[in-house]
Amino acid sequence: MADLELPTANSAPECAEDGVWLACIECGAVHAPYEGPVYTCPDCDSLLEVRYDSYPTFDDFSGRGVWRYAAALPFDEGVSLPEGDTPLHRVPRLEADVGVRNLRIKHEGMNPTGSFKDRGMTVGVRVAQELGVDRLACASTGNTSAALAAYGGRADLETLVLLPAGKVAAGKVAQAALHGARILEVDGNFDACLDRVQDLADRGEAYLLNSLNPFRLEGQKTIGFEILEGFYADEGRFPDRVVLPVGNAGNTAALYKCFRELVRGGDLAPGDVPKLTGVQAEGAAPMVEAIEEDLDDTRRWEEVETRATAIRIGNPVNAPKALPGIRETGGTAVAVSDEAITRAQRDLAEEGVGVEPASAASVAGLRELRDRGVVDDGEDVVCLTTGHLLKDPEAAAEAGSEPEPVPNDTDAILAHLAGKSVGGGLLGRLRRLL
Ligand code: F0G
Repeated sequence: MADLELPTANSAPECAEDGVWLACIECGAVHAPYEGPVYTCPDCDSLLEVRYDSYPTFDDFSGRGVWRYAAALPFDEGVSLPEGDTPLHRVPRLEADVGVRNLRIKHEGMNPTGSFKDRGMTVGVRVAQELGVDRLACASTGNTSAALAAYGGRADLETLVLLPAGKVAAGKVAQAALHGARILEVDGNFDACLDRVQDLADRGEAYLLNSLNPFRLEGQKTIGFEILEGFYADEGRFPDRVVLPVGNAGNTAALYKCFRELVRGGDLAPGDVPKLTGVQAEGAAPMVEAIEEDLDDTRRWEEVETRATAIRIGNPVNAPKALPGIRETGGTAVAVSDEAITRAQRDLAEEGVGVEPASAASVAGLRELRDRGVVDDGEDVVCLTTGHLLKDPEAAAEAGSEPEPVPNDTDAILAHLAGKSVGGGLLGRLRRLL
């Protein structure tokens, strides 16, 4: 196991406030947390990380949801809907089919706006209040915009969301609209939207709440705490591997930070850190490329395409944080086809777990790695499903069965069912083969 230590000592520098400060992951420079909005290092423009003067142990946690983990967060409470406490499903049929000792699904689609982004926003919008900003903004493939709109609304702050025109699933646009965000549709992909929002933030026109904002990742860290606590409560040990879909790689970076802080706090042995395993769609896989080619950072993909629109991203801005996380935990990254993603979406749905396509990528990736022999049959695996099925109703309808028109007559319905029980089964099996 490589170096899981945080690079700086845990004694607060002079600029710290309440034991919290920002540190550059590249040059180590430290910065005050709430003097004004700061997203990347003012000295060298690299990514910033939130640091604390103490590290958490499981005994420090009490209460429910994201704020149960306040001992590992910059504040004791935030703008809350509330979020977190998501289920860790058992999926026995899928577990047997994939062939691992344990397969659990951490279903983040059960958060208030239907994705894991809520965990980041409860903290991020709290920081926005601390800074006294009056306009929030994000670029988004959809879920971030839905979460920001809801939390911005709750905090009574103006909210702007920049979306790639025509490339965001219907449920997410509807959420952003109804929660009262101004939706700006940009003629470009997600990466272009993020370029624009960064410009707006640099000009002081809005407070950026993408995962480039280090406080967002603090909230998302709590997924890791919940996984470890939940799995341990059931099995008496920590999982060997956490598999997750990767877009901007913010979540991967957040989980890695969670694990490192627990190692520093002393409750997680370096050898017990789960292997972080990232999954991307074949048409948008710069992180997989960087892992396979051993690059320090990703190469920007100008053209990206996948049915999993949430992870249709060619320039993962958090790669410098996430790549070491994958490598130092002994994990890997893998690309999967859209067909494999749809199959995994159906597999999960058949066990009652309804997820959007990007979320199913985690299970598709696990299956691929099992087939390749990278994951062995003795492993305890947790797959993260990041968003709810209803986020993308079109994709769900396409992946699901066709409605069958029947007459308004009970006998005719029974006759239809009797006929269909053979035909339907056959059709179903045929569809699965195709
Ligand atoms: N899964 C879903 C459902 C997402 O919405 C996202 C990111 C990811 C996975 C990837 O997470 O970026 O931390 O690696 N969605 C962002 C958005 C980009 O705008 O909603 P990541």
